[in-house]
Amino acid sequence: MAKIKIRVKTGTLHKEPCEIGVLCLFEQSPLSPVAKVLDKALGRAISNLLKKGEFKPGLNKSYLLHTYGKVPAKRLLLLGLGKKKDLSFDKLRQATATAARETRDLGLKGLTLPLYPIVLNYVSKTSQSVAEGLLLGLYRFERFKHPEPEEKRELETVTLLVEGARQLGEAKRGVRRGETIAEAACFTRDLVNLPPNEATPDMLTRTARDAARRLGLRVKVWKGDALKKLGMGGIIAVGKGSSNPPQFVTLEYGTRGRGDTVALVGKGVTFDSGGISIKPSRDMDKMKGDMAGAATVLGAIRALARLKVPLHIIGLLPLAENMPSGTASRPGDIITCLGGKTVEIITTDAEGRLIVGDALAYARRYKPRAMIDLATLTGACVVALGNTATGMLGNNEELKKRIKEAGEASWERVWELPLWDDYDELIKSDIADMKNAGPGVAGAITGACFLKKFVEDSPWVHLDIAGTAWADKSGPYWKEGGTGAGVRLLVELLSRWSKFPARK
Ligand code: BES
Ligand code: MN
Ligand code: ZN
Repeated sequence: MAKIKIRVKTGTLHKEPCEIGVLCLFEQSPLSPVAKVLDKALGRAISNLLKKGEFKPGLNKSYLLHTYGKVPAKRLLLLGLGKKKDLSFDKLRQATATAARETRDLGLKGLTLPLYPIVLNYVSKTSQSVAEGLLLGLYRFERFKHPEPEEKRELETVTLLVEGARQLGEAKRGVRRGETIAEAACFTRDLVNLPPNEATPDMLTRTARDAARRLGLRVKVWKGDALKKLGMGGIIAVGKGSSNPPQFVTLEYGTRGRGDTVALVGKGVTFDSGGISIKPSRDMDKMKGDMAGAATVLGAIRALARLKVPLHIIGLLPLAENMPSGTASRPGDIITCLGGKTVEIITTDAEGRLIVGDALAYARRYKPRAMIDLATLTGACVVALGNTATGMLGNNEELKKRIKEAGEASWERVWELPLWDDYDELIKSDIADMKNAGPGVAGAITGACFLKKFVEDSPWVHLDIAGTAWADKSGPYWKEGGTGAGVRLLVELLSRWSKFPARK
């Protein structure tokens, strides 16, 4: 992650000496008091640009002005935020990401941004969004690339200006929180972006152990015979074609009775070739991102532990590589999953549900108040919702409602699909308890129907992040590749968690 220092101090932009000062402007709004002072000192340069339409302050639009000593800031970056009435925390996140990237690309080291023209409801939440925007926007995955000179440019310090000393504490708290959350999302992005020859099940286990040691979590790992003895038939069936053996990891934060127990399950297929039901080669490289669920759970627990949320959280990571070989599972195989349910494998490419099913069945042993799984489960979910919304299906209205609200607040939005019993028929098998794939219709729903068999009456929600965990194109605060989607959502959900009602 970008190593920038975010400072907070009192001050106003027209009195602040700096390399580059960001002046936020709204569409069709009069200039803010600071903007007016700066405009006057610059001989009406700003109002002229706006009047002539040379600069329109639409969201994420910017314009660089040199000030030639007329004001203490050497340069001003006019930053568009769109219409004032439409301002939101996400737009702040986007616009600050834009400003940070442009400053970095100019080769400058320091940026100064006044908060007061953009404070939305709360100083702390505003500064949190700004910190998230800065750090998420500057993210790049550089572990394997020898950088070109311009790729070596780094922004070093960002100074946020607040009006009065009263707001200092609140702004600093918001910045710290934003830093913790963005750091976790970038950690998740890094794991997703790692190539599949590096990010093997074993490497993810080591990463979980390392996180556990640093954060004081308990960690348990099963592999080989221990995994067999535990009865993880799904994880074994998916991983047995690979020379990188499958594993199952649990991470425990907090202790039973310290707030509700919440189980987070993350699909960790480190590479999904499809197995014997092999995928077409086009875009197969993207299937290194099929462990995004596991990476998201790791990232979220990391942030939640640092934020010291008063809950008991169990992270469950089923890890396997889905490869074709002489030892791989075949279409037609019948396997027994944890809990004793038998599954007829129709296609070895519907592997995620096999490993997530095992992990959900295991999660029930903790008697959690809520179980949430995150999985890049189906291409059908990408067809239905694109890259904008995560698919949500579950058996508990209260949990779905909370996740939907956390999605709106973090702007990692979810959209519900139905999980009616009518769909169960699609995965009925004549010779086993169920099949791992339906006839092709309602793909995202049949995936969730399959998982439903493993949760029984536990309150549970499945989040299909196949479309949101990976970006084909860079956006305002993400780059092509892993997005870290789900980290902000889970942190929002669990840091505002209130005691969960006993029964639905
Ligand atoms: N990992 C894929 C789903 C996926 C597709 C994730 C595109 C991200 C982008 C999953 O294991 C898979 O292959 N699902 C199949 C299921 C089908 C065979 C029932 C799919 O969606 O085609
Ligand atoms: Mn697959
Ligand atoms: Zn998969």
